[in-house]
Amino acid sequence: PGGGVVACSFIEPMNPAADTLAIASTEVDLSTIGEGQRMTVVWRGTPVFVRHRTAQEIAEAEAVPMADLTDPEPDSERVEKPEWLIMIGICTHLGCIPLGQKSGEQKGDYGGWFCPCHGSHYDTSGRIRKGPAPDNLLIPPYTFLDDTTIRIG
Ligand code: FES
Repeated sequence: PGGGVVACSFIEPMNPAADTLAIASTEVDLSTIGEGQRMTVVWRGTPVFVRHRTAQEIAEAEAVPMADLTDPEPDSERVEKPEWLIMIGICTHLGCIPLGQKSGEQKGDYGGWFCPCHGSHYDTSGRIRKGPAPDNLLIPPYTFLDDTTIRIG
């Protein structure tokens, strides 16, 4: 590998984009996130990716054979409700923030997220499918307070 410039956003300094909502509390109102949309919230200084998955994204995630996974984990163990995928938005390789939350960003070869630092591709369940990251994107502790509100932490 050569010494090319790597486009990469690390956790520090945190540089919230316009669509990144810095919340003081850890409750998230999901009702504003339409199907197919994503929102990034900041929880304890950490980006948390919230994705309102489409039926197709859920079906794709559920159909993947465990043998195809680097870090085998059924989709059903990564979600409380299939339509809501909630993950820590930090690449498990060296800690970059993967692309895929904003419209128009690369989502990688598996339609989820793509970390451009060293080319890690995550699927619609946030599982690592290709590239150097060893683990799936982490799931933070969260609970549903009602149908459209979660509390993270
Ligand atoms: Fe994401 Fe290296 S930090 S691929």
